Amino acid sequence: MTDPLTTELLDLALEVARRAGDLLRDGRPADLGVAATKTSPIDVVTEMDIAAEKLITDFLGRHRPHDGLLGEEGADSKGSSGIRWVIDPIDGTVNYLYGLPSWAVSIAAEKDGETVVGVVTAPMRGETYHAVLGQGAHTNGEPVRCRPAPALEQSLIATGFGYVRERRVGQARVLHELLPQVRDIRRGGSAAIDLCDVACGRLDAYYERGINPWDYAAGALIAREAGALTGGRPGVPASGELTIAAPPGLFEPLQRLLDDLGAWHD
Ligand code: IPD
Repeated sequence: MTDPLTTELLDLALEVARRAGDLLRDGRPADLGVAATKTSPIDVVTEMDIAAEKLITDFLGRHRPHDGLLGEEGADSKGSSGIRWVIDPIDGTVNYLYGLPSWAVSIAAEKDGETVVGVVTAPMRGETYHAVLGQGAHTNGEPVRCRPAPALEQSLIATGFGYVRERRVGQARVLHELLPQVRDIRRGGSAAIDLCDVACGRLDAYYERGINPWDYAAGALIAREAGALTGGRPGVPASGELTIAAPPGLFEPLQRLLDDLGAWHD
């Protein structure tokens, strides 16, 4: 799908992700404040999350005033152009707060509800991942593909945990069953980076319950364009209920297992 609109959306997403990433990397205060909490006392919103979302929404508003916006820190407008931007100014906020490097700016553009462009920039890795629907996935401009599917027992699988205690109880129960059946588990702290790592072949698979569109919209397109399948329960698209990404051949047994283990409910 190379058309002038998609090219414009990709260029804008790459440019504003770079600007937000620079702001976050260069402007991280030594005594980073916690501006508010959201779902629980450990779900923090940093001052920098809010500043980065403002930078992104101001930029997009200047260039494409009729587009809709959905941002983790509150941006929510419908727009009239059929395009909506889905923005996570910092995915991996807790890593950012602690000075760990795994955090990213995630920006997706949807056209009539379908993600057509995804950009994830991870400044501390010096890497930017992007995909356009139907045009493959790229890291720093170079094409990437996900790894061929290993057997489930040999799979390196990333996951994440929600911020609310009741959800974590369910997630721990699933992990207790899954861990002995796979090569190993990773908890990196950024769903967007986990999805891009599946795209680059650095992970075999990723799953999580409870993530939001801004966490996965860009990364899921990048994973799919790199050859992965994404979804939720069998027959259901990826959503907050459950998101899974893995190459064909691993996706199906992992999806069945996660469904049987009840990874889709608390
Ligand atoms: C979080 C990260 C984390 C995942 C959480 C998300 P945030 O996003 O993606 O890896 O496990 O479920 O909420 O809050 O850092 O934008």
